[in-house]
Amino acid sequence: MTISDQDLINAAKDARDNAYCHYSGFAVGAAIIDDNGHLYVGCNVENAAYPLGNCAEAAAIAAMVLEGGKRIDRIAVVGGSGDPGPCTPCGGCRQRIQEFADENTVIIAMDDSKDWQRYSIAELLPAGFHLDL
Ligand code: THU
Repeated sequence: MTISDQDLINAAKDARDNAYCHYSGFAVGAAIIDDNGHLYVGCNVENAAYPLGNCAEAAAIAAMVLEGGKRIDRIAVVGGSGDPGPCTPCGGCRQRIQEFADENTVIIAMDDSKDWQRYSIAELLPAGFHLDL
């Protein structure tokens, strides 16, 4: 079964409903489809000790890795309410996504409006850091 972009966005929106964002009030949901068509979701989880908070993308990536997923085919990130525009992944999450992405990976950024934007990892993280071991 193929999961459409809209289905993926809906999964990210559902995940966002569970965000624990007590401190910022900024709820984010993420949904990943891996190479095998499996779906993984995550939301942001904040903490009274602010730096300990986790992003939605990190949670979704952790869920993918836990289940044996190897590569992100598409990831949708939903957050924000239209101003200043869709929640694109933060800098750290761009690096996290790059770890499991290739040139065909699609990153979808969406807010509460009906429009969304599609990016490649090269657009979001040009000249990203790689470690070739
Ligand atoms: N946040 C994410 O979950 N993903 C991002 O890519 C951007 C920021 C979260 C972190 C924090 O809980 C809240 O949004 C406000 O920064």
